[in-house]
Amino acid sequence: MARRVAVVAGGHSKFGKRLDATVRELCAEAYKPIYDEGITQDRIDATVLSYAASQFTGQGAGSALIADYLGLQNKPHLRVESACATGTASLRAAYGMIASGLYDVMLVLGVEQMNRVSSATATEYMARAGDMRWEYPFGISFPAFYALMASRYISEYNLPHEVLSMISVKSHHYGAQNPKAHLPKEVSLEEAHNAVPICRPLNLYDCSLITDGAAAVVLVAEERVKEFTDRPMWIKGIGAGASQMMIQDRPSLTSIPGAKQAAKAAYEMAGLKPNDINMAEVHDCFSIAELIAYEDLGFAEPGKGREIVENKENYHDGRIPVNCDGGLKSKGHPLGATGISMTYEILKQMRGEADKPSRQIKDVQYGLVHNVGQSGQFVNIFIYERGF
Ligand SMILES: CC(C)(COP(=O)(O)OP(=O)(O)OC[C@H]1O[C@@H](n2cnc3c(N)ncnc32)[C@H](O)[C@@H]1OP(=O)(O)O)[C@@H](O)C(=O)NCCC(=O)NCCS
Repeated sequence: MARRVAVVAGGHSKFGKRLDATVRELCAEAYKPIYDEGITQDRIDATVLSYAASQFTGQGAGSALIADYLGLQNKPHLRVESACATGTASLRAAYGMIASGLYDVMLVLGVEQMNRVSSATATEYMARAGDMRWEYPFGISFPAFYALMASRYISEYNLPHEVLSMISVKSHHYGAQNPKAHLPKEVSLEEAHNAVPICRPLNLYDCSLITDGAAAVVLVAEERVKEFTDRPMWIKGIGAGASQMMIQDRPSLTSIPGAKQAAKAAYEMAGLKPNDINMAEVHDCFSIAELIAYEDLGFAEPGKGREIVENKENYHDGRIPVNCDGGLKSKGHPLGATGISMTYEILKQMRGEADKPSRQIKDVQYGLVHNVGQSGQFVNIFIYERGF
């Protein structure tokens, strides 16, 4: 019988262009608040490092480097890689190791440093997650993958671009209230809608940021949770899904098959329905991705996600608050840190510790994380339950 597993603590570095810090220093910044809470190295059995792409810094063997720097030299460690879903893939690995009885207490760290290379080089490195024979040589980068999905969605459902811009306006509204955010500034609908094109129909404000940063959480087996906190956040459901490698082989471009598969599995394991979820952190690598997530997660019917946007149901006081930390768009998207950062945000919201009342979601009992790798090849969904 698997043991239950809880998140008991979290930490987060400032996200941004962090040329002042190295990968290991960003990890130390994320671990420090956890250490300050009394979860010192001697209490941790093992670590998992979520580090998606070592080519950004050239540093290999990241988990050894970081364990060493954090004073965890004699603790087993491993590194996980699943493109932009690396954070939740790492959590899934740690969950399995704790649930099976292998370890009781694990530190899961996520980090990426993407700004040591130019945006053009970063775009090229990320594009290598596409098929190197049939996609990459034809210039399909990340903005292009999602531009294809956006074009299809716009033509199938007659979607005005302004709806996508409204998602970006919301993200920046909340990012402006998050001291850890990369680009904490409000934008108007006009600015977002009329921004410079990146890959039509997507413009600058439809794109997430190229970010440096780290985040960390501690997972603990149920028998040991009381030693760490009286405010645990339980892992209630986990779902993983996969989609065809090449976007051209997908049955539809207005939905991500792996996300629907992961959502179904997570809801089943949790014994919950979309209506039970009080908040969600979704993978808005592009504005269209957030819209599609509403539908893949069952918050709206196919083609109806725009109603959530137009009625502002996705705001902190709405029916289904989404990304009230700024999301990948304004908080930022350091690939390996993203899924852990989403988890950290749910922990904060459940504990009533959002930075400002104007972004605090009320009474979060169930929170959902939706983390997508590449253009949907791998998706992990976690449902968390407040345990206090
Ligand atoms: C859109 C993108 C190409 C812009 O990069 P860029 O043109 O090199 O931008 P720069 O870093 O030179 O910044 C230029 C300005 O734009 C701003 N900016 C950069 N990216 C931005 C974004 N996504 N949204 C809003 N503003 C952005 C910068 O803050 C800067 O503003 P300033 O001149 O006021 O200081 C880049 O952000 C991008 O590729 N995003 C997508 C990342 C991605 O694909 N991630 C994986 C997805 S799963």
